[in-house]
Amino acid sequence: MRIDGVHHRSIAPTDDGEAVRIIDQTRLPHALVFGRLETLEESADAIASMRVRGAPLIGATAAYGLWLGLRADPSDGGLGSAYERLLATRPTAVNLRWALDAVRDVVSKVAPERRSETAFAEAGRICDEDVAMNRAIGEHGLALIRTAFEAAGGRRPVNILTHCNAGWLATVDFGTALAPIYLAHDAGIPIHVWVDETRPRNQGALTALELRWHGVPHTVVVDNAGGHLMQRGEVDLCIVGTDRTTAEGDVCNKIGTYLKAVAARDCGVPFYVALPHPTLDWSVADGREIPIEDRGPGEVVRVVGAEGSVGLYPEGTVASNPAFDVTPARLVTALITDRGVCSASRDGLLTLFPERGETAA
Ligand code: MRU
Repeated sequence: MRIDGVHHRSIAPTDDGEAVRIIDQTRLPHALVFGRLETLEESADAIASMRVRGAPLIGATAAYGLWLGLRADPSDGGLGSAYERLLATRPTAVNLRWALDAVRDVVSKVAPERRSETAFAEAGRICDEDVAMNRAIGEHGLALIRTAFEAAGGRRPVNILTHCNAGWLATVDFGTALAPIYLAHDAGIPIHVWVDETRPRNQGALTALELRWHGVPHTVVVDNAGGHLMQRGEVDLCIVGTDRTTAEGDVCNKIGTYLKAVAARDCGVPFYVALPHPTLDWSVADGREIPIEDRGPGEVVRVVGAEGSVGLYPEGTVASNPAFDVTPARLVTALITDRGVCSASRDGLLTLFPERGETAA
């Protein structure tokens, strides 16, 4: 991502190679504050507290967290406990387990004294792969946006609605749902993005910030506005990200995604989901089996803004905070993956990932 003309990744080793540099996303959009992770525990806390967030970035942070853990204790026991500590940080995004498995697989094959350097290299490889996958998603999604532009006669901006933040900040760079939008904008296709606020954590503020950095016209709307906009023909297509997509194409994403998909179906608006292949969980067929994170009532009864945290409800108000929901495959127009676009179905996914035919749930 470019901020004030300087390119940054959302996560990277520090220049001295001793630690990991992150952007503290709990301080955005009001302040750009970089953080430094030096230990396993700091990495786990950064994920759990959402200083880093978004499925691919959670995975990348966990990979570096395993490096930091192995630097302190490269034994088999150290590897096992670091893996479990990081896996327990957040339950829904499958990229976390995918990245931890990838690092564990390579380090368990080498002697303890080489494990830390091996984990560091693998974490770097995971980050580079994430960027490459997101670029590919961008190319595949760009074709869909171009088609929508031409279908509208090429005379007005394409209106795209997105939910949560699936952009640069949710990944190592570039984003998933926002990658096609950035490429379309750079290709000269006029775009306007409806940005869902995404209560209670307001990830829409991150999306709006990114879009502003990149110069893409956008409008923030409250979470309940999307259906109304779709009814009035003010949305050409929706693109969202996902934290876990099943072998049957059910899509788990930020709470509220399902309602947008229902409205999109009712209004005849295409509903696309963008994902890199590590977000596919081939071991699960039915999205209802995906564990949904409950982040507790505190995020609902208080709101955090530039001036700090403000109470919204009287003391003792009962609140519930499921952080994700599942959109059934039947409501998804297509999946935009790093290997191409397919229907949200087992058959569709297997056309792009034929090697999974034997093992998928
Ligand atoms: O709770 P968060 O902010 O980690 O949730 C993020 C999302 O739901 C994103 O849409 C998803 O991770 C896809 S990010 C490319």
